[in-house]
Amino acid sequence: MPISLAPHNTLALSQCCDAIVEVDSKQQLISVVSELVSESKPMMILGGGSNVVFTDDFSGTIVKVLTKGIKVVEDEFNFIVSVQAGENWHDFVEYCLENGINGLENLALIPGTVGAAPIQNIGAYGVEIDNFCSQVEYFDYKTSQLITLVADQCQFGYRDSIFKHQLKDKAVITEVEFRLPKLWTPNLEYGPLKHLQGDSVSAQTIFETVCDVRQSKLPDPKVLGNVGSFFKNPIISAKQYLELLTKFSDLVGYAQSDGTIKIAAGWLIDEANLKGFTVGGAAVHTKQALVLVNLGGATGHDICQLAHGVMDKVYDKFNINLEPEPRIIGSQGEVDI
Ligand code: FAD
Ligand code: EPU
Repeated sequence: MPISLAPHNTLALSQCCDAIVEVDSKQQLISVVSELVSESKPMMILGGGSNVVFTDDFSGTIVKVLTKGIKVVEDEFNFIVSVQAGENWHDFVEYCLENGINGLENLALIPGTVGAAPIQNIGAYGVEIDNFCSQVEYFDYKTSQLITLVADQCQFGYRDSIFKHQLKDKAVITEVEFRLPKLWTPNLEYGPLKHLQGDSVSAQTIFETVCDVRQSKLPDPKVLGNVGSFFKNPIISAKQYLELLTKFSDLVGYAQSDGTIKIAAGWLIDEANLKGFTVGGAAVHTKQALVLVNLGGATGHDICQLAHGVMDKVYDKFNINLEPEPRIIGSQGEVDI
């Protein structure tokens, strides 16, 4: 009997899978994954489903990670917090603040689980988790071992890590450790937080401001299905940026430490007049062009076709390739868009 994935993905796509196994302990996660790996049928790990696009029915078993637990120890300078993969990210951020552990407040309200956070090194409002993530533990399918990588081994980058490359489809993240300095420094570099500059700003104020800004900009998946930003912000050379600036004087770009420029993909899509552009039940969000939404009844194929339309039009106008951020899942597992 096929099982609908609609309640398990924030785009509310109604593809099905053969079976869903919900796991609530690390031991169970390891034994379920080991057993499925030894069979030859497709298997997929799922957290909150906030960064996946199901294009077809999935011919296999979904393992939903619901493992819980947060452990805090401290040394002279840091709180060291170990978190089970199935903890909800935002609840974890709130837990830290409630316990006087600051640093993650800029990352409030990002949907999904702690276990998925290292995969694309989640980031927002000037902070990425690699600023505080000290190690990631995963269960290795091939060796059946629990392995711990320190942050330097995780190859963290902008929306990137080793889990999207060498360890793709080879590992389930079981636990993540964060090292949060007791001496807290607010991070107010991102535009909408700059007005908070001053000695007295608290982590709670930053948390509340980030929540307000996010709620005003991004659609609530419970109301309008989406996966947040559908494309990564493209990184181009300073030369290409300067050429584009001669034609598009208000192009939004952020200089990177290596001299390249990160371009606001939302600005490119907006400038290409694509807000409101639809394919079937899928649309470019009218308030934030980087977000593709399910207006109701969209299929994963509608979403991908719409994404292709956006990619083509942006390329034609700016000669820039957009790369999707969410993972596209076909009947056997991840596929290219
Ligand atoms: P899922 O969607 O369940 O899974 C994503 C991928 O990770 C899949 O390939 C899955 O197989 C794999 N996976 C999940 N858990 C594990 C595990 N334990 N081990 C191994 N593989 C695993 N992202 C940002 O970086 N910044 C933002 O500001 C942001 N804002 C968002 C706003 C909205 C409204 C939405 C809907 C999404 C946003 N996102 C943002 C994207 C999303 O929240 C993150 O990518 C999040 O980390 C996904 O977590 P998840 O548990 O939902 O992962
Ligand atoms: N912009 C437009 N038109 C639009 C949308 C944006 O002109 O329709 C312009 C804005 O005016 C602004 C710039 O683009 O000048 C950047 O917009 P915003 O600050 O909203 O951020 P973003 O680049 O769209 C990124 C992340 C978000 C993260 C925010 C805050 C990526 C792909 N997206 O969005 O992450 O929350 O910054 O840090 O890096 C996600 O990954 O899912 C996500 C939501």
